[in-house]
Amino acid sequence: MWTDLASSLRLPVMCAPMTFASSLELTLACCRAGVVAGWQGMQITDIDEFAAYLRTLADAESEARHAGQLFAPHAVNLAAGLVKDPDLGAQKLALCEQLRVPLVFSSLGDPAELAKRVHGWGGRLIHDVVSVPHAAKAIAAGVDGLMLTCAGAGGHSGTLTPFAFVPKVRSMFDGLLVVGGGIADGAGVAATLALGADIACMGTRFIATHESGAPEGHKRMIAEAGMDDIFPSAAMNGVSANWIRQSVTAVGLDPDDMLPQRGPRRGAQMPDGVVPWLHIFSAGHSVGLIDEVAPVQTVVDRLAEEFAAAWIAAGGDWRQRLAQRGRVGGLTAEVVAPVSVTDMMGR
Ligand SMILES: Cc1cc2nc3c(=O)[nH]c(=O)nc-3n(C[C@H](O)[C@H](O)[C@H](O)COP(=O)(O)O)c2cc1C
Repeated sequence: MWTDLASSLRLPVMCAPMTFASSLELTLACCRAGVVAGWQGMQITDIDEFAAYLRTLADAESEARHAGQLFAPHAVNLAAGLVKDPDLGAQKLALCEQLRVPLVFSSLGDPAELAKRVHGWGGRLIHDVVSVPHAAKAIAAGVDGLMLTCAGAGGHSGTLTPFAFVPKVRSMFDGLLVVGGGIADGAGVAATLALGADIACMGTRFIATHESGAPEGHKRMIAEAGMDDIFPSAAMNGVSANWIRQSVTAVGLDPDDMLPQRGPRRGAQMPDGVVPWLHIFSAGHSVGLIDEVAPVQTVVDRLAEEFAAAWIAAGGDWRQRLAQRGRVGGLTAEVVAPVSVTDMMGR
């Protein structure tokens, strides 16, 4: 049962954990705005900084509770293999245990040991998967929730469409289902729920906020780029991820002629001083839905309005909506007609 989560959220939305973008400011803003605040716990390599991050969240939560304000849970992203690390990994887990971190979000590897550890302090584990066999393995490992990363996601995207992936995994699993990939508005959140999932996860949308720790150029580029500017490549660091074309050109590389990889799991030689993720920017297809860098509260307020409208529309009269299509704006048949089929196929 997830009654505690249901009562602590304003919206069924999660901010994805993201390298560079997961600042403490972003995490706090998401908790206060009432959406699950995922943050990247692996990028913090100083244990005092990790402890300070957790303590600040715990203090902010008790302050909010005292004041009767909403404070959604945070979810720290840890690699599943962290349980085997006797040094920094052990210290991080001991701190999470001490502060009884409610949600751990794992990726990469077998989550079985981590699940046992998190359950030991009463927390819950959500594991990130991109395929049905991965989902089956994670379910067998005892996770409480799954994050289904679908096609169009920022970062290391999945390749499956949520229209098939979500209902398939729902038929195998009664736990929490989080879905990510290309979602940036309330209609996407409603669609996620209609498919059988519980929470919509957004990464790209939350990078373009005042509070995110991403470079300003990254935020601006997300607001300015279109969907066609996103392309997948493994050339950057060996594993395929989605990148913004303009950020690749800006460092002197050609997105249409990327340098060859140096080995099976290694990216291409980068120009001097260029670090993928920090100087070459990743984002998902939802850039096409984002046109400004805004405060988290504004983003969440807008999502709440859009979600309410989309939820009502989804339960409304589809026949009437279909019948009226084209009479309330948009391109008419006459405008579309001159475009040839070849043009439309982009050839
Ligand atoms: C710049 C960037 C960095 C990311 N870093 C991580 C990460 O460190 N760990 C992780 O599990 N996912 C990471 N992701 C993926 C997100 O967790 C999430 O799956 C994705 O952003 C959802 O798709 P969307 O961007 O279309 O909303 C990253 C995504 C982006 C765009």
